[in-house]
Amino acid sequence: MTIAVVASVDPLPPELADLWVAAWARAYPGIDFEARRGWLAERMAAMARDGTAILVGLVDGVPAGFVTVHPGTGWIDQMLVGLAHQGSGLAAALMDRAKAVAPAGLTLDVNADNARAIAFYRRQGFATTGTRLNEQGWTIALMAWVPPAPAPRRS
Ligand SMILES: CC(C)(COP(=O)(O)OP(=O)(O)OC[C@H]1O[C@@H](n2cnc3c(N)ncnc32)[C@H](O)[C@@H]1OP(=O)(O)O)[C@@H](O)C(=O)NCCC(=O)NCCS
Repeated sequence: MTIAVVASVDPLPPELADLWVAAWARAYPGIDFEARRGWLAERMAAMARDGTAILVGLVDGVPAGFVTVHPGTGWIDQMLVGLAHQGSGLAAALMDRAKAVAPAGLTLDVNADNARAIAFYRRQGFATTGTRLNEQGWTIALMAWVPPAPAPRRS
């Protein structure tokens, strides 16, 4: 299995929309993510216009996940690995690339009950910096990664 991460010109390659619907439907079965395809397409297009990098993870050349990161603010709006490749290391490869795009630091928010995502972000060096309630009354955790301080120079 080969993993690669490439910057996408297309804000939302169709394969990624399918992966997004399937993965979120598994995580939150009570929500109709199929009905949110249009919302996702509009959001991704707006991010692309805003200069956000859309980084696509390829497994053996096939799109298998993606992360969005704004190079100026370090904001990650979307992060997703398709069900078939969760646990494969693709998520870490995507995050490595996001850190390279925004080396000064990254921020994101995540549903506080999304234990898998939070475990992944912690392993990636993110810490929880606060919480808020969203419009539906769900608790959202705010998380941030700051790059490690450089080692002191020896004289
Ligand atoms: C979040 C996501 C990108 C992480 O990618 P992944 O390939 O699943 O991540 P990994 O398997 O490398 O890491 C997940 C960690 O959670 C652990 N985990 C798995 N299921 C878990 C669960 N139900 N509860 C808690 N931890 C869990 C794994 O063991 C792993 O920890 P480890 O590295 O210490 O073993 C992916 O799961 C995903 O796309 N989920 C659906 C969309 C989503 O939630 N996106 C993030 C929104 S902010």
